[in-house]
Amino acid sequence: MKVDVLLGLQWGDEGKGKIVDVLAPQYDMIARFQGGPNAGHTLVIGGKKMVLHTIPSGVFHERPVNLIGNGVVINPVTLQAEINQLEAIGINVKKSLFISKKASLILPTHKILDAASEASKGGAKIGSTLRGIGPTYMDKTGRNGLRVGDILHPEFKASYQKLKEKHLHLLSLYNYEFDIHEDEKTFFESIEFLKGLQLVNGEYFINEYLQNGKRILAEGAQGCMLDIDFGTYPYVTSSNTVTASACNGLGISPSKIADVIGITKAYCTRVGAGPFTTELEDEVGEKLRKNGNEFGATTGRPRRCGWIDLPALKYTAMITGLTKLVITKIDVLNDFDAISVSNRYLYNGKETTELPYDVVNEKIYPIYDQFPGWNTSLENATDFSQLPQQAKDYLNYIEHYLGVPISLISNAPDREKMIIKDISILG
Ligand code: GDP
Ligand code: IMO
Ligand code: MG
Repeated sequence: MKVDVLLGLQWGDEGKGKIVDVLAPQYDMIARFQGGPNAGHTLVIGGKKMVLHTIPSGVFHERPVNLIGNGVVINPVTLQAEINQLEAIGINVKKSLFISKKASLILPTHKILDAASEASKGGAKIGSTLRGIGPTYMDKTGRNGLRVGDILHPEFKASYQKLKEKHLHLLSLYNYEFDIHEDEKTFFESIEFLKGLQLVNGEYFINEYLQNGKRILAEGAQGCMLDIDFGTYPYVTSSNTVTASACNGLGISPSKIADVIGITKAYCTRVGAGPFTTELEDEVGEKLRKNGNEFGATTGRPRRCGWIDLPALKYTAMITGLTKLVITKIDVLNDFDAISVSNRYLYNGKETTELPYDVVNEKIYPIYDQFPGWNTSLENATDFSQLPQQAKDYLNYIEHYLGVPISLISNAPDREKMIIKDISILG
């Protein structure tokens, strides 16, 4: 048995949470492999909305266990709050959740460092979620970090103090005021809580599942254009968000990867700063934001909106080895007379379909083709064949351009709202 990997193809918030929840019943394990509480994955079940930040989106189903892999950065305070919220509505998270001892810990001072670093950037802010993600990954690669397994060590407090001192020294270089007294108290309370959870050697845990013929879905956070190597650097997150990251972030071999399922909105959004070639800063962008309720699930910030960017999607399909495509939020386009699609750029006076090296400082102009809108609700459609011809033409064009078959189209936030194109994705 192999691992399917599910990824966001844009700048995050593509609807990964919903799609993982839809696919989860056919899997024995859902595993997060990177990122941390910068993620906000929304699920709407029976009209009730839930946002998950660290816990994998399989948690509402009986069958799969949920693994937080070694590649994830965990804030124990957020994790505890998330678990308590779920337990309060009757979900037995403690039973289904397993956490790799090699996952990194976000300390209160990591969050302060994130805020101080952003404040020092003036007009060049990344637009970080300020959850301490960057500083925690910096400590990991700098070989200074603390990991979940360390909390079981009698010297944990001393290791914590040592790293905190280092952070305080770094913070003295910034002109930034802070007080971590309360945060430190809740941090240590949540460390005690964390000790009571199922902490495992994640790499053995997942490989045993594989050996026993179990089915696994690896759940990505963020999106490929936020990848630390391949995204719009430096306006990115601090982890690799592409397929390869599932191997590093879980301890599985590349030969164990089966399908790579990519999620894209039927248009495009970005929250935070950085280049966005097809951004619409006009009433059309405003309409997309309003129709799509485009406000961040983690920070509540308005998301920037624009038309779909096919060269960028083709780039992410190449890097990820995409095998299946899921399009979300098609309903957001229901009342547009015309829908634009960027299928090439104008760069240095020439047309190209390739993403240039420097997307930050150089000017890249999107070139559009237009499709007629369908001007009707798609609410009752459950199969591709039932879609109006205009919607079919739009989706077929995307599929053809990317050379990857569309499996599902999502037409509302709710779990059961789905248009099927290739039933095999449902197992
Ligand atoms: P994620 O981070 O990729 O899991 O996505 P988010 O949860 O941050 O953002 C996606 C938003 O779109 C959430 O509010 C979802 O409830 C919502 N959503 C997901 N699929 C659809 C859809 O097909 N149509 C509409 N209108 N909303 C959707
Ligand atoms: P999900 O998993 C959208 C963005 C931030 C910022 C940049 C760096 O819900 O799709 P960070 O806090 O990681 O240092 O912020 O990355 N960002 C996201 N945008 N969805 C996310 O996650 C994101 N996680 C980080 O807005 O621009
Ligand atoms: Mg999100």
